[in-house]
Amino acid sequence: MQNLHNSNAHLQELDARHHLHPFTHAPSLAKRGARVISKAEGVYLWDVEGNQFLDAMAGLWCVNVGYGRQEILEAVSAQMQQLPYYNTFFQTTHPPVVELSAKVAELTPEGLNRVFFCSSGSEANDTVLRMVRHYWASVGKPAKHIVISRENAYHGSTMAGASLGGMKPMHKQGGLPIGGIEHIMQPHWFLHSDELSEEEVGRKAAQALEDKIVEVGAENVAAFIGEPVQGAGGVIVPPSNYWSLIQDVCNKYNILLVADEVICGFGRTGSWFGSNTFDIKPDLMAIAKGLSSGYLPIGGVVVSDKVAEGLDAGGDFNHGYTYSGHPACAAAALANIEIIQKDKIIEKVAATTAPYLQKKLAEFATHPNVGQVRGVGMLGALQLVPGKKGKSQKFFEKADETGVRCREHCLDNGLVMRAVDDAMILSPPLVITEAEIDELCEKALKSIDQTFS
Ligand SMILES: Cc1ncc(COP(=O)(O)O)c(C=O)c1O
Repeated sequence: MQNLHNSNAHLQELDARHHLHPFTHAPSLAKRGARVISKAEGVYLWDVEGNQFLDAMAGLWCVNVGYGRQEILEAVSAQMQQLPYYNTFFQTTHPPVVELSAKVAELTPEGLNRVFFCSSGSEANDTVLRMVRHYWASVGKPAKHIVISRENAYHGSTMAGASLGGMKPMHKQGGLPIGGIEHIMQPHWFLHSDELSEEEVGRKAAQALEDKIVEVGAENVAAFIGEPVQGAGGVIVPPSNYWSLIQDVCNKYNILLVADEVICGFGRTGSWFGSNTFDIKPDLMAIAKGLSSGYLPIGGVVVSDKVAEGLDAGGDFNHGYTYSGHPACAAAALANIEIIQKDKIIEKVAATTAPYLQKKLAEFATHPNVGQVRGVGMLGALQLVPGKKGKSQKFFEKADETGVRCREHCLDNGLVMRAVDDAMILSPPLVITEAEIDELCEKALKSIDQTFS
């Protein structure tokens, strides 16, 4: 029998009374009660009442190696016994952070060789903002301070992260965005597909960067930041011409290019980084999530030799976190990367499971209420629509409601999917098998049918 103090009702009641959840309206959650997840293994989760869910979101896009990997637990436990904590300030280092720095430098694209560590993707992007401004000041161009980002981007929830992000509901709260950040159009073909081809949207979105640089003056622009694939914005896979055009604009105007690899990094798109998949040559990369598969919190900013040399010229970089390069988190990341390499997870994703997932998702395109299927690697989106007879049937009268309804059906059917602007999003653990992909797609189809029945 279940211990009363661990019962669903008791936990929900305490949760409602004392726990403030991220991105949540507390009274609404209190009324229905939070889902209490108490166990996980492989690609599955269980709630405290024993209900099983296939986790098609890998937690929050992060559990790349799947749940329950003993190797990570053992590495963290050994590190905790040896050195549970020490900092990396004041000319100090420790073995796991040294080893992890070298490993990340080995895996990231050529020319990116130094890493600044933090505890999350948000902190990574806060670091990016200060770092790019400090870089330009250090090389004698202090006026270059503006960072250009995109509408609907997600770069975290801290003041800088949320300001860099392009989420309007976030900007409405807390006086954002902070100064010196500009937003341009996102390369989201679905929004323009009645008037423009995919390539034209790619060109238009890259032109928007050039226009913004000219408007504010290249002498004032520090960097452009973008997720290789916009994740939280709805898995927006850019048109194939987009990134090379963006790269050209950044080169033309001497603007640093920042790839936010927090979701795309560590195998999500079928190669180590989204920058590999889309042939981006970033000057800086923000990393987190898949770096440790979420087992412990760790993030970082990887910088090119050019940026590192510029920073070197600027004296102390007065920035750092108590937990920058935390030894246990670094040990978790090292063990996680070892699993990815030893089990050839990215090779398997690229060769078999991602093509299989994308093929199965493509079959949804014939569904009367799926208006677009997007995806790359182990990322996917099924854009729900009221119908398919022209422009008027692309969007629901009331946005978001249908997606939320579908998400509820998914949960009732034992599937965790996320709804973004009436698109159903998925980003499963990279270790998902073909049989589990079948299960995922069957449950998704049943849930979509129920939503429209
Ligand atoms: C692309 C991207 N950048 C940054 C972040 C923020 O990361 P964190 O939640 O670890 O602060 C996220 C989180 O989803 C993300 O998707």
